[in-house]
Amino acid sequence: MKWMCSLSLAVSLALQPALAEVRFGPHPLTPEARDAYVTDLLGQMTLDEKIGQLRLISVGPDNPKEAIRDMIQKGQVGAIFNTVTRPDIRAMQDQVMALSRLKIPLFFAFDVVHGQRTIFPIPLGLAASWDVDAVKQVGQISAREAADDGLNMTWAPMVDVSREPRWGRVSEGFGEDTWLTSVMGRTMVEAMQGKSPADRYAVMTSVKHFAAYGAVEGGKEYNSVDMSPQRLFQDYLPPYKAALDAGSGGVMVALNALNGVPAAADSWLLKEVLRKDWKFTGITISDHGAIKELIKHGVAKDPRDAVRIALQSGVNMSMSDEYYSQYLPDLVKRGVVSQADLDDAVRHVLNVKYEMGLFNDPWNHLGAQESDPADTNAESRLHREAARDVARKSMVLLKNHQGTLPLQKHGTIALIGPLADSQRDIMGSWSAAGRADQAVTLLQGMKNAIAGKATLLYAKGANVTDHKGIQDFLNLYEQAVSVDARTPQQMLDEAVATAQKADVVVLAIGEAQGMAHEASSRSDITVPASQQALLKALKATGKPLVVVLMNGRPLALVQEDRQADALLESWFSGTEGGNAIADVLFGDYNPSGKLPMSFPREVGQVPVYYNHLPTGRPYNPEKPNKYTSHYFDTANGPLYPFGYGLSYTTFSVSPVILSSPTMSRGDTLRASVTVTNTGERDGATVVQLYLQDPVASLSRPVRELKGFQRVMLKKGEAKTVSFPIDVSALTFWNARLQQVAEPGEFNVFIGLDSVRTQQASFSFR
Ligand code: NOJ
Repeated sequence: MKWMCSLSLAVSLALQPALAEVRFGPHPLTPEARDAYVTDLLGQMTLDEKIGQLRLISVGPDNPKEAIRDMIQKGQVGAIFNTVTRPDIRAMQDQVMALSRLKIPLFFAFDVVHGQRTIFPIPLGLAASWDVDAVKQVGQISAREAADDGLNMTWAPMVDVSREPRWGRVSEGFGEDTWLTSVMGRTMVEAMQGKSPADRYAVMTSVKHFAAYGAVEGGKEYNSVDMSPQRLFQDYLPPYKAALDAGSGGVMVALNALNGVPAAADSWLLKEVLRKDWKFTGITISDHGAIKELIKHGVAKDPRDAVRIALQSGVNMSMSDEYYSQYLPDLVKRGVVSQADLDDAVRHVLNVKYEMGLFNDPWNHLGAQESDPADTNAESRLHREAARDVARKSMVLLKNHQGTLPLQKHGTIALIGPLADSQRDIMGSWSAAGRADQAVTLLQGMKNAIAGKATLLYAKGANVTDHKGIQDFLNLYEQAVSVDARTPQQMLDEAVATAQKADVVVLAIGEAQGMAHEASSRSDITVPASQQALLKALKATGKPLVVVLMNGRPLALVQEDRQADALLESWFSGTEGGNAIADVLFGDYNPSGKLPMSFPREVGQVPVYYNHLPTGRPYNPEKPNKYTSHYFDTANGPLYPFGYGLSYTTFSVSPVILSSPTMSRGDTLRASVTVTNTGERDGATVVQLYLQDPVASLSRPVRELKGFQRVMLKKGEAKTVSFPIDVSALTFWNARLQQVAEPGEFNVFIGLDSVRTQQASFSFR
């Protein structure tokens, strides 16, 4: 791994006298020193101790702290997740050092997906910023806060490319595009691991979910994935590879089956592709319960069989699965699972612990007990300024009829909607150790922005949903959505009366955070009916209507687009979300986000993605022909395309200039445009480069993103933006699964979204 070249940490063993007898550091963080150390340690371990290292235990009702203490004493646990405070982590690490025979430190992991204590926008929103520096900042701060809580590993980034808005977990990923997801995933890994995951304020990443989880059939959670090898290698695998090339120490093995083989039983994926072809040397960890699930998947006949298959297929560590400890001892004793296979898995666990610096200092992310924060959630531990800045950058302006936005800070503004004052929802899915009561809602953010200069009225207007079944689903484990005691009509009446007193209405609608999460697939991707009724009633008042969307997936927004004068996609924007949205609404920040996923018109069009293959019968709306590829009851294509997003200013893009009309293997061509801010305000935009191979040995996409640059332009300013194109941008996996770049003409498209682009061509020889 990349960071193995850096040298070892200083040791704080002087503070831990009990360790004097233990073989702890300083050990240089080099592969050679690691291998020698781990080989020696392996030689001292009993079978049970080895198997113990393969177990990742979740602290919770099934495994209370006392039970874990017992397991620690018996050497039956290798790592812990879902424990997030220094005192709790310290207590367990102390137990290992005091009670276990070999004193092999635990590592501690958690889902730090878009922040730890400070919550940033959901990853789909981060992708919408198209801002690598912003994402880097999110990774660095998340890692800092996580490491400061004592954690060593995060279950992130999630780089599952997805063309499925029905799938709730699109909220956790970076959207539909391979290139954008790869860039964002790589950035996260580099930012979170820093120079070395052993460093005080870095954590090791575990990229997930390997592989192709984002393509679950029908967008239905935990469903199967079936796809051609070409699509897998071309579109779905590169982001995992990018994260591993960036040095990710871990890989989380997916729950889904790919072409009939559950990932935890897929030796081709975990051994051939991951270890042999990609040369991955880190650790593989099954997702929650994935080993047991091999039985229900229908590839293992019983628990014992499941354990054998998972271990032999290349799953090193098991997450929340007691089967490894129950069945592995006998399997190894009888020689069904070889000692070599077992040792190989254990070696990977010990290797990452070494790389985390835990054999130098088991408390290296904890420091001295006296340094523990008095209040884990203290305000002083948050990074609010960065959270606000990144959140502003993630917002996408979808519509702005006749300059409805930005709003003026005078007169009377009515803020309405079930999401306008919800601290919980604005945090989004996987808001880790963040606390909703520290989140700024839109109501609070607008109050802050207005600072008494205008009158702000508020009404809830509707429940997120009036559908009893969905309310119950959302409130299954806790009171996540509150249902108003008033009737829907009473709420609507209040909202309309409030709107009537105002000069402009801001309506905050969308999804509850629990609607865009793991295990939250939807068959209907519209804004729930209760909120649509509210929208309609407010439209009828004739007041200018600004809709602020909060949601974790592309929604079908035909109604909202028709009725709203302005439409702002704010995703779930995190701890500082309300301030950030207010910054955009009042023009204190000029929006520049661009969609990382196409927004379909209706669910029946799904999948809708920009880089689809051509068809032999393309539909031409200007010359409609029955026997062409389209639905007869809706328009072709999305409502808002990939890469789309408006600004309060306007930009023009010049024709594309190529540095040469031809390119040979080994050359780097440059494609340039001049972008001019033609409007009345300073603003940023994202210039996007797409390529097309129009004639190849197999059908290639109509266009594919191959580069992007965010540019800031003052009013009237022009800048030349130039993209390098080399052979790597032209390659694809052919019918024989060879990666090739075929000679011929290539089209270059550059624009500010995936549809309206300038075009040029070159020939590749
Ligand atoms: C299951 C999820 O699929 C995975 O993404 C997550 O990291 C683990 N649970 C741990 O919380």
